[in-house]
Amino acid sequence: MNYIGSKHSLLPFLHENIEKITQANTLPNKPTFIDGFAGTGAVGLSYKKNGYSIIANDIQYYSFVVNNGKFFSLTNKNKLKLQKIIHDLNALRVPHNSHISKLSSFFIYNNYCPSGSSKYKRMYFTDENGKKCDAIRSTLNTLHNTGKISTSEFYYLLWCLLEAIDKVANTASVYGAFLKRFKKSALKNLHIELLDISNNSILSEKNNTYTVFNTSIEKLLSTPEFTLSTQDNILYLDPPYNQRQYAPNYHVLETIARYDTPLLRGKTGLRDYTEQKSAFCSNKTVHSALKNIINTVIQNKKKNNIKYIFLSYNNEGLMSPKSIQEIFEYFGKYSVFTKTYNRFTAQKRKNKKDNTNTVIEYLHCLTLI
Ligand SMILES: C[S@@+](CC[C@H](N)C(=O)[O-])C[C@H]1O[C@@H](n2cnc3c(N)ncnc32)[C@H](O)[C@@H]1O
Repeated sequence: MNYIGSKHSLLPFLHENIEKITQANTLPNKPTFIDGFAGTGAVGLSYKKNGYSIIANDIQYYSFVVNNGKFFSLTNKNKLKLQKIIHDLNALRVPHNSHISKLSSFFIYNNYCPSGSSKYKRMYFTDENGKKCDAIRSTLNTLHNTGKISTSEFYYLLWCLLEAIDKVANTASVYGAFLKRFKKSALKNLHIELLDISNNSILSEKNNTYTVFNTSIEKLLSTPEFTLSTQDNILYLDPPYNQRQYAPNYHVLETIARYDTPLLRGKTGLRDYTEQKSAFCSNKTVHSALKNIINTVIQNKKKNNIKYIFLSYNNEGLMSPKSIQEIFEYFGKYSVFTKTYNRFTAQKRKNKKDNTNTVIEYLHCLTLI
């Protein structure tokens, strides 16, 4: 999935520098790594491979599904079963447009495809792909509700569906808008695949635990039950860097994941996201949101045993490097690492005199003493 702010390409930078501070890789009993703004799960997953116990959390439900899917353990036994289910899901036949009830079923087709019942005639997916998505999504519910698949198998299969539908989405990259003509990739048939066999199989060989949450990190850290038995734990923060909220940019994936038939608004068919607004996306609240997280960690230190807080941020975000440094220094020992990289070609500034085609990525580190 092409995800805004994914840290996939920054993993070597993060691992190298987090290790410089924590020196945890060589410990026989590894700490817990908390990926507080998990997104695609790239960072947490990379630490799971290194033998850490993982807590992954994100405010978006599709991210909860993706993280559960990626952490799922594929074994020889369940692999065969899931392969057969995926084969059957791909073979599902969909009804002719005129046979679809306009009101209840086929929510994705009716609201996000050109022949659907919505007056907006949205073009996020072709009719065929929208109907197929509905057929697969409701079959997953049936399989789960009738006990034919376990909850973790349900998340795994739903993750496979989210990745597959994202490949045929008719958008420039995110779901803030759809294109007015179907692009080539959107015209391909929706096809689910059994994902990431080697990755999931490697993970299943290790005994370390993982838990995925779907709430705001502020709430999770202040929950009385949030107790960790491991020592010197690591909290990794990768919040949104600017005003761009994630919820409206990924709303279609959220609706496919939840399949909760929400009320939709306007041309783009946006669901309500009042509960998923991030304090990190506003100039007014971002600094206090960061302080609040650190304060909560310190107040509950005896229970969470968090010793290190790392924050990924860049030089173009709402908070300046200086202001982050000041906040961190107030609470403990501060250090920082940077990496300069070139902006993606598509994002390059047109004005060549404007020498800002590079971005500086920061890893701010706080050691609580
Ligand atoms: C920069 S992205 C994280 C990218 C992730 N590290 C990756 O590699 O895919 C920021 C994420 O923070 C989530 N988010 C925003 N505010 C949040 C909050 N208060 N608590 C938890 N998650 C939040 C968004 O849904 C989004 O997935």
